Amino acid sequence: MKILSIETSCDETSVAIIEASGGLEKPDFNVLSHLVLSQVKIHEKYGGVFPNLAKREHSKNLGPLVKKALEEAGLWVDANNKIPAEQVEKIKTDLSREPELFTNLLNIFETSAVPEIDLIAVTNGPGLEPALWVGINAAKTLGEIWNVPVMPINHMEGHISSVLTSAKSAIQFPALALLISGGHTELVLISDWLTYKVIGETRDDAVGEVFDKVARMLGLPYPGGPQISALAEEARAEANTKAEVVENVSYGASAVPTFEFPRPMIKSPDYDFSFSGLKTSVLYAIRDLMVIRPALDLATKKAIALEFENAIIETLLAKTQRAIEEFVPKTLIIAGGVISNKAIRQAFEKLTKNSSSYGQEITFLVPTQALSTDNALMIAIAAYIRQQKSPTSISADRNFSAEGNLRLS
Ligand code: KG4
Ligand code: ZN
Repeated sequence: MKILSIETSCDETSVAIIEASGGLEKPDFNVLSHLVLSQVKIHEKYGGVFPNLAKREHSKNLGPLVKKALEEAGLWVDANNKIPAEQVEKIKTDLSREPELFTNLLNIFETSAVPEIDLIAVTNGPGLEPALWVGINAAKTLGEIWNVPVMPINHMEGHISSVLTSAKSAIQFPALALLISGGHTELVLISDWLTYKVIGETRDDAVGEVFDKVARMLGLPYPGGPQISALAEEARAEANTKAEVVENVSYGASAVPTFEFPRPMIKSPDYDFSFSGLKTSVLYAIRDLMVIRPALDLATKKAIALEFENAIIETLLAKTQRAIEEFVPKTLIIAGGVISNKAIRQAFEKLTKNSSSYGQEITFLVPTQALSTDNALMIAIAAYIRQQKSPTSISADRNFSAEGNLRLS
């Protein structure tokens, strides 16, 4: 079946078209097109994502992006497809708050034949509601014009599904998923397809959020995750070189201070996380340094980035390891934007390499680097799984809303 998917939950406008087959045992995805338009440059100067600015950009860009995706997939057929006046009126009413999206979609789809699409999937939460609504309204409009069902998809289910393109065989359950993104830090037990139990989550900041906040403290641009990770990588490489070259030479007093940040809740008996204390420790360390220095030099920033990243890695590892020991999953899934981080990926690879010590082999699944951060392909994949799991769940009903705090259920 062919699925067109739309993702607008934050600052990426993304559209994908896939041809999916193979069912739940051997799901196979032929990507016909996949486009991601990042708004990072626009939000960068504000140091974070502005919901209404994100909404405006999605409204402007989504229509042309859908057209481009259809063209790339070979599904665009020029035609004079006059949309009946009463249908135009209905769409206009639905999109009254998004006139730009309305004009875009109308102009585009009056010039194309109805494409061969079986299902439209769209993220309906969690995320920024004004941004989510753009995708939802566009999906509903296209569903109306093309007479195709529209399926709402949970963004976090999308992140979980992003690993399916990397899976070499059928997913074995139970699976344990660690979801680490800009808005979430969750440990989820998956007993079967789409059957979730959240066993732990962050009590304050999400991992990605704390990466972004610490980056801001260090004067690095948004989004800070990749910036911190690059600095930490350099610090690691330099430390290794030093250790190799200088075996017996004493360094004397180093000009770069050393740091020791806490590993929050690492020993607590639950599976919850908390990162605000770690964030505050970094803040205090920087504040103390600023008393004696006019500005942080690069070497100090690298040392902070490294110790901060190590604290995050150790905390994530400890909680996940304990969950593995208790629940003995057959598959470990790690997904969400933060898994782009090389050091975090490597730490979990190492953990699962020795998985026989847990009593059984654990298959470790992570998305490719490109599918780690927000994208529409993962939404299309999740929609296929949902359609396969309960084909009857697809209805003509398009009566769903954006849910900023939508949870996995
Ligand atoms: O999943 P995602 O694209 O969006 C949300 O659903 O939130 O995740 C974005 C988050 C941002 O906080 C970003 O700083 C973080 O992922 N991130 C990283 C790295 N690349 C992106 N964090 C640490 N290291 C990275 N290399
Ligand atoms: Zn995300």
